[in-house]
Amino acid sequence: MVSSLSKAVKRVKDSISSKERSREDLKVGIAGFYDRSSQLWEKVWGEHMHHGYYVPENRTDHVQAQIDLIDEVLKWASVDAPAVKRAVDVGCGIGGSSRHLARKYNCVTEGITLSPYQANRGNDLAAEQGLTDQCNFQVADALDMPFKTGSFDLVWSLESGEHMPDKKQFVNELFRVARPGGRIIIVTWCHRDLEKGETSLTKSEMKLLKKINRAYYLPEWCSVQHYVDLLEAKGATDIRREDWSYIIAPFWKAVIKSSLNLRSVWGLINSGFSTQRGAYAMLLMLRGFNKGLIKFGLLTCTRPEGPGTPADSLKMIN
Ligand SMILES: C[S@@+](CC[C@H](N)C(=O)[O-])C[C@H]1O[C@@H](n2cnc3c(N)ncnc32)[C@H](O)[C@@H]1O
Repeated sequence: MVSSLSKAVKRVKDSISSKERSREDLKVGIAGFYDRSSQLWEKVWGEHMHHGYYVPENRTDHVQAQIDLIDEVLKWASVDAPAVKRAVDVGCGIGGSSRHLARKYNCVTEGITLSPYQANRGNDLAAEQGLTDQCNFQVADALDMPFKTGSFDLVWSLESGEHMPDKKQFVNELFRVARPGGRIIIVTWCHRDLEKGETSLTKSEMKLLKKINRAYYLPEWCSVQHYVDLLEAKGATDIRREDWSYIIAPFWKAVIKSSLNLRSVWGLINSGFSTQRGAYAMLLMLRGFNKGLIKFGLLTCTRPEGPGTPADSLKMIN
C-alpha cells in the first residue's frame, strides 16, 4: 500500500517536471498507453490512428482523409505496386494500414506493436474483414524485429518512429528486414531542422516537447535531416524527404472538436489519467505545429541491391 502510494507520488512529480523516462519505462508505458486508449480512439475515429490528408483543407470526411493519407504517401513514394508481395507495418496500431495495404496490393502483411490489446484487436478486425490469411499482428519491438533479413518488399512505418528511443537502431532494423531493392517509408513527427549555427532547439521549444513526451510516451525528438543522415549512412538510394505539416494541419483541430461531444467526454472520463493527459497534450501539439517547431515528416528510400552487413547475415541464419 505504502509502496504503491509512493510510486504514484513519484509519477506525479515526474509528470510535473516532465522527466524523461528510461527506455524500459518507455516501452512498458507505450504498451499500457495504447492498451488503455485504443478502444476509445477506435470508437470515435475508427481503425486508423494517424493524421488525415486535408486537401482541400476544409474537408470534414475525416476517416476518408486518413485513408487518403496512406494512398497519397504511397503515391508520393512511387511504390511499385506489382512488386509488393510482402509488407511489414512497423508500429501498426490496430492494423488499419496493414489491412488497407493487403487489399490494395493483394499482399501479405505482418504488423507489430508493443500493445497486446492492439495486436489482438488487429487480428480480430482482420478476421471480421476476411483478411486472416493475409494479415497477421503480434507484439514485438521495432528495435529488434522477429523477422528474417530481407523479408519484405515494402517496409511501412506510419507515426511510430517518434516513439523509438534509438533512431539509429530503428533505421537499422527497417533496413535489415527490407529485401534488397525494397522500399522503406517512414512518416513521423520530427522537430524542425536546426538552422545554420544552431546546436540545439531553444529552451522553450525543448520545454514544450518534453511536456508532449510525458503525455504520449515519447523519447527525445529528432529532425527529418537526422533521419536523412542515418539513411545516407546505410547507403540507401533514392532518398526523398518532404514536409506535410501544412497538409495535416486541420487534423488536430478536428480531433479536439470530436473529443468535445458527449460520447467522447464520457469515454474520456472513464479512460483514466494517461488518456486524459493525452487529450490535453493535443493542445500542445497544435501549438508546436503552429510555431513551426513540430513537423510532419515523410521519408522514403530504397534498400540497395547486394548483400547486407555481417550482423544481417547472422540474423538470417537464426
Ligand atoms: C500512433 S500509433 C500509430 C499506429 C498505426 N501506424 C496507424 O497509423 O494506425 C503508434 C504505434 O507505434 C507502436 N510502437 C511504438 N513503439 C514501438 C516499438 N518500439 N515497437 C513496436 N511498435 C511500437 C505503438 O504500439 C502504436 O501501435
